[in-house]
Amino acid sequence: MSVSDTQHTPPRAVPLEPSAVVAVVGAGAMGAGIAQVAAAAGHLVKLVDAREGAAAAAIDGIRAQYRKLADKSRMTAEAAEAAGRRLVAAAGLGDLADAALVVEAIVENLEAKRTLYRELEAIVGDDCIFGTNTSSISVTSIGATLRRPERLAGLHFFNPAPLMALVEIVSGLATDKAVADTLFATAEAWGKTPVHARSTPGFIVNRVARPYYAEALRVLNEGGADCATLDALMRDCGGFRMGPFELMDMIGHDVNFAVTRSVWNAFYNDPRFTPSLIQQELVDAGFYGRKNGRGFFDYRDGAVRPAPKEAVAQSTPTDIVLHGQSAAAHALADRLFERGIAYAWSEAEDERSRGQADDGRIAEAGGAVLFVTDGRSATQRAADLGIANVVLIDAALDHASATRIAVGAAINAWAPAIGAAIGLLQAAGFAVSRLNDIPGLIVMRTVAMLANEAADAVNQGVCDARGADAAMRLGVNYPRGPLEWADRIGLPAVRDVLANLARFYGEDRYRVSPLIQQHVFAGKNIHD
Ligand code: NAI
Repeated sequence: MSVSDTQHTPPRAVPLEPSAVVAVVGAGAMGAGIAQVAAAAGHLVKLVDAREGAAAAAIDGIRAQYRKLADKSRMTAEAAEAAGRRLVAAAGLGDLADAALVVEAIVENLEAKRTLYRELEAIVGDDCIFGTNTSSISVTSIGATLRRPERLAGLHFFNPAPLMALVEIVSGLATDKAVADTLFATAEAWGKTPVHARSTPGFIVNRVARPYYAEALRVLNEGGADCATLDALMRDCGGFRMGPFELMDMIGHDVNFAVTRSVWNAFYNDPRFTPSLIQQELVDAGFYGRKNGRGFFDYRDGAVRPAPKEAVAQSTPTDIVLHGQSAAAHALADRLFERGIAYAWSEAEDERSRGQADDGRIAEAGGAVLFVTDGRSATQRAADLGIANVVLIDAALDHASATRIAVGAAINAWAPAIGAAIGLLQAAGFAVSRLNDIPGLIVMRTVAMLANEAADAVNQGVCDARGADAAMRLGVNYPRGPLEWADRIGLPAVRDVLANLARFYGEDRYRVSPLIQQHVFAGKNIHD
């Protein structure tokens, strides 16, 4: 009997019928967005808020949103009108007796959420489901004081709820699986992409996203480059929609720092999550970001946004030799060919005879030897290989289409050789931003750490690999799921980057997830 014979597919959970009444408590940014989604899906939605008039005002706002969608032909005028009529401002919790689901989007406070759901238990029927939209409080603790904690799960939407596809369905220790499955199916019926998660600090997105900020802050703190350059590299080479610094400025440092601290504290100060002193200082200064005019960047009237730093134009070397079979080497070859730049491929036989067959070099020019970073600094790699002129390039979402690339050069590298390496990359059409010799540069170390965190979440049963990747693509718009990305880079290479960072810094922060180690030992991808 094969393993698959011993498993059977569970019956598909059924979503709440559109005729089921949905209540939303808390008519702020999130509650209003969730109510908008639920009413558009056909439910009668009762909205309650402790603030006098807030529910009615939110309903006016949602109806205006429906009208806008109808104007843009994203919904018919009749559907907009009908969805608007399905929204009701309820006077208080007492009006929610017939609700099949109560979504809570009130203040982010454990006692407030516990009290609310305890009061509701005395009002609603026994089969009413509770879905909390908390982004950081343990679903297990919110449920702990309920008579029937099994009816509660996290129903975590992302902001703005009508636009963001992801919903994390978060199970606490006591959550009934059938409740989580019903919420999952209901979120799907509402046009969302739900993923299951276990109630652990940060759930999926707020945990796995920490290195996106943390690694950039580390590189900044070590003088690797300035914020504008690092942001540009993450966008133009990493393919992320926003760089980490502009994104932190948009989220607000008060909020982002609080989330970072709460995840770090919740994991008993695991160095993976250690916050940066830079964040603390911005908060101390009251530089919260866009919302009050100053953060990493200056948003006040007349302020000029700094441009990313770029190496000045170098002449194109005439002795370019490409090496190996890596995607990066092939992308370089294609880019040079398209631009009519002459290069030669090194013969594998030659490389073996010179003992270079597996040192990983991708190109040589003007005395420089180029490698893709493996988490060692260029200086360390130069020392290990006994080659002075080592120049490292960064990982990319796709080396074939990236418009910018980071390079790092060994401290002892000869300036003309560095110039030749930069000239080669410029001739291949990259804007080149030189970082100080930071191990793992910026895209590689960030992606490796995102994958490491996602791998740990999977290894600890928080979610599955597909869920982790979907969550990061849909919850924070990453161009590729971190685990899929690690598979593409090659898991052994990602393991090496992390292990090299761990050795370089001597910090437990970079310890390799058991999930990655085991897959490397087994010779498998995570998504095999
Ligand atoms: P908000 O401050 O915009 O709205 C909260 C609303 O709840 C206010 O209108 C307030 O009057 C009302 N309220 C507070 N206590 C209440 C109570 N006991 N009973 C009834 N109404 C009450 O907050 P926001 O941003 O909508 O957040 C709500 C929840 O969603 C929080 O738990 C938050 O952590 C979570 N969340 C927020 C996200 C965001 O980006 N803003 C994203 C995902 C989750």
